[in-house]
Amino acid sequence: MTLDEIMRLAPVIPVLTIEDPAHAIPLGRALVAGGLSVLEVTLRTSAAIDCIRAMAQEVEGAVVGAGTVLSGGARQASADAGAKFAVSPGLIDGESPNGAVPLLPGIATATELMRGLRAGFTAFKLFPANVVGGVEALKGFSGPFPEARFCPTGGVSLANAPDYLALSNVVCVGGSWVAPAEAVRAGDWGRITELAREASALAVRRP
Ligand code: 3PG
Repeated sequence: MTLDEIMRLAPVIPVLTIEDPAHAIPLGRALVAGGLSVLEVTLRTSAAIDCIRAMAQEVEGAVVGAGTVLSGGARQASADAGAKFAVSPGLIDGESPNGAVPLLPGIATATELMRGLRAGFTAFKLFPANVVGGVEALKGFSGPFPEARFCPTGGVSLANAPDYLALSNVVCVGGSWVAPAEAVRAGDWGRITELAREASALAVRRP
């Protein structure tokens, strides 16, 4: 599946930081049950790679990717574990769109966007979206960079997601709000399915 196809599967990509590997499969199933099939597991815990492998194998209907991918080596390790995409908070030197697995690099400025476009990328994570200009930054980028598509992430919530999803250059948003840490710790999968349901019902004006 191409990155563009993956980004169009659901309006929200849950950003998941999983401490306990036992949570991976029920968490993934809860999100998919609520309509969010694209899952980003951040490489911020020692369990992350095992969680990606388990979710990719066991969560039916999920398209599992890796987040917080900071190097080409981490991109390769994610692919080896079964990730279908990788997300980075920034541009990774020397990495191109077609590596081990499709890469969604982060940018925060016009200069970074120009570097990314030069490297052949057309889809970017705006990060941290709410800090680096949010909706107004994305409107600003749409003039000089009409080919660029975005997944804003960082400070996105159910309340402000509609403002992002209404923009013509936004394909989807990312956020951790659909899997609150306390609900994961408590195994409150019903709550997470409910949050996913609200998020998956958000309307998108797709480019
Ligand atoms: C992150 O890097 O943690 C993601 O961008 C999620 O940000 P959020 O917690 O503000 O949704």
